[in-house]
Amino acid sequence: MTATTPCCDFILFGALGDLARRKLLPALYQLEKAELLHKETRIIGVAREDMSDEAFRSKVHESLQKFMGKDALDLAVWERFAKRFKFIGFDLSDLAAYGALSVLRQQDSKRAVVSYLATPPQLFSAICKGLSEQGLNDENARIVLEKPLGHDLQSSCEINQRVGEYFSESQIYRIDHYLGKETVLNLLALRFANSIFSDQWSHNSIDHIQITAAEQVGVEGRWSYYDDAGQLRDMVQNHLLQVLALVAMEPPTRLDAESVREEKIKVLRSLRPITRHNVVDDTVRGQYTTGIAGEKKVPGYLDEEGAKAASTTETFVAIKAHIDNWRWSNVPFYLRTGKRMAQKRTEIVISFKPQPHNIFHETVNQLPPNRLVIRLQPDEGIEIQMMNKVPGLGKQMLLKPTTLDLSFDETFENQRIADAYERLLLEAIQGNQYLFVAREEVEHAWRWIDGIRAAWQQLDEAPKNYAAGSWGPSASVTLIAHDGREWDDDF
Ligand code: BG6
Repeated sequence: MTATTPCCDFILFGALGDLARRKLLPALYQLEKAELLHKETRIIGVAREDMSDEAFRSKVHESLQKFMGKDALDLAVWERFAKRFKFIGFDLSDLAAYGALSVLRQQDSKRAVVSYLATPPQLFSAICKGLSEQGLNDENARIVLEKPLGHDLQSSCEINQRVGEYFSESQIYRIDHYLGKETVLNLLALRFANSIFSDQWSHNSIDHIQITAAEQVGVEGRWSYYDDAGQLRDMVQNHLLQVLALVAMEPPTRLDAESVREEKIKVLRSLRPITRHNVVDDTVRGQYTTGIAGEKKVPGYLDEEGAKAASTTETFVAIKAHIDNWRWSNVPFYLRTGKRMAQKRTEIVISFKPQPHNIFHETVNQLPPNRLVIRLQPDEGIEIQMMNKVPGLGKQMLLKPTTLDLSFDETFENQRIADAYERLLLEAIQGNQYLFVAREEVEHAWRWIDGIRAAWQQLDEAPKNYAAGSWGPSASVTLIAHDGREWDDDF
């Protein structure tokens, strides 16, 4: 494969941090391996530490071995990759220190500069200013921002405002790593390349939709960060709402940033506010207690290392959401996400309306509705659940629910599924914004989330307990059962 990306300087701020080591450097390595990096592209690590280029290279090597496995590294690829690295160390909050980046100033004026801010958002303002003082925010420059983009609408507007002083919206790439997942992208293909689905995709045929992002992990040693956020901010504000927007949006005119974002914004704007009047019926907050996860006894949230007693932060949320527009009139979207749940499982379930009349009533009391299950992870694939006749010469027509299962693993055998960050880094380097989140999307999402938080505060109730390793508090079962429906836990 030939190099298809333009030549750039990729500046990685926070180059020694967890995200860089765990995700970004392995993703860049994979792009190298696939020969997608231009031969003159450089990768410049920036962090507070003082370190030589050589020492940084060995840190990168160490991280790749740790997070990709020793055998995954190909010596020839590594040698090519290692040559790209430089390291510049300075205190990122010290504006005077940004002169250290002057060595990068346009040796070649056509070279794009992609600055990736894998740092806490408190540093965004200083980094943007520092870059601008070095002329690294000109028309060839882009900036990639990692979450959390704020804590609520106001703080998110402040971040956007500060970054916006130095970079225009068309230069800002806000990451939501769910948008880089192969299966999330496949949702676009499923919806807009298959008339069998696109024609059915509305309140005319769909009864309800479920989006579940269940995690088996707990807070993984980052209790205090997590405790400030909680599952609503950490998972719903970004990932679940992005998936919901892709499921619910109108067909975009083209597959470009402007068209896709326009349609997602309309969905986010149409989310029915949750207020103290419907918060009790339409949401459930939970917090895990001790239990068994992955066959291991694990502590409850309040017993985790670093935990503060009496925290009321939610580690589980279930929400019944409504999109107030023509297409989704009376079609509830049930969202559910939590830590320490029974399994790691992210999926979308589209539940179709039942048949209006049952001609098989002698053998089947009630025909189960068809369901389309889009499994985002693990075991990526698509399933259609439908009724079939059981073969045989019996007088009666026996029917059985069966599943058409398209597992990606089997269908695209030997095809490696790229990590979300590989796709997103590639798009950022190429200057394609359609998989990045627009300012307006972030702000509409926060507006909706802030409403839920305010309603919870007025309610002033502790989250409901659930045992680690379960599917969440029983109240989440009641939330959906109240509408005569049930969660798709039939994994
Ligand atoms: C991150 C959250 O954005 O997404 C984490 O901060 C969460 O708390 C993670 O575990 C889940 O991502 P994935 O890709 O494993 O579903």
